[in-house]
Amino acid sequence: MPSLPVFSSQIYQASCVKPSSSLFRALKKELSQIEAADAQGHSWSSKNYPNGYTSYGSWDRMHQMSPHFADLQKLLDKHVHAYIKNLQWDVRAREIQLTRIWVNVMRENTLHGMHIHPLSVVSGTFYLQTPADGSAIKFEDPRFNQFMNRPPVKASAKKEQPFLSIKPKAGDVLLFESWMRHEVPIHQSKTPRLSISFNYDWIRA
Ligand code: NI
Repeated sequence: MPSLPVFSSQIYQASCVKPSSSLFRALKKELSQIEAADAQGHSWSSKNYPNGYTSYGSWDRMHQMSPHFADLQKLLDKHVHAYIKNLQWDVRAREIQLTRIWVNVMRENTLHGMHIHPLSVVSGTFYLQTPADGSAIKFEDPRFNQFMNRPPVKASAKKEQPFLSIKPKAGDVLLFESWMRHEVPIHQSKTPRLSISFNYDWIRA
């Protein structure tokens, strides 16, 4: 075929921690403990994340506070390096390092609008609980604001649609380039959606 696919982007999804493992159980328990103890986070969430709780604005360096998060970081590092290898980035001049990692609890009617993760290079989420009737994460085609008069894409071409929704399983990690716009539409399950999100930066060691 004479057509050459160009300017591709990649989203990485893999199994990271088995839900039956002690690490998975420890992380889930710790998420509840963090939520119970983090008064500053509740105050931040009430303004910025109605109906939900996140430690994004308070406890966002959990890898330095918790041995379980430090264990998770070691696993995430491997996935991030595999992803970077697939992207064929030359990162040798600096180091790719996890800088921030925080927890998220989406209760019924929580939403997280379209955003990017400025200044980071790889962002992602590790999932602890994803109810079947809950929200997916939704990515926007990075070319979206360039489309002026393009005809629609066939419904069967799932990966070519202007939006792509992914519903990971508990234990999965999802990685994407930090500039990729994404959102979590309103969560309408009675069961909370639990996750741990993180940023990797390209920084001087
Ligand atoms: Ni995000």
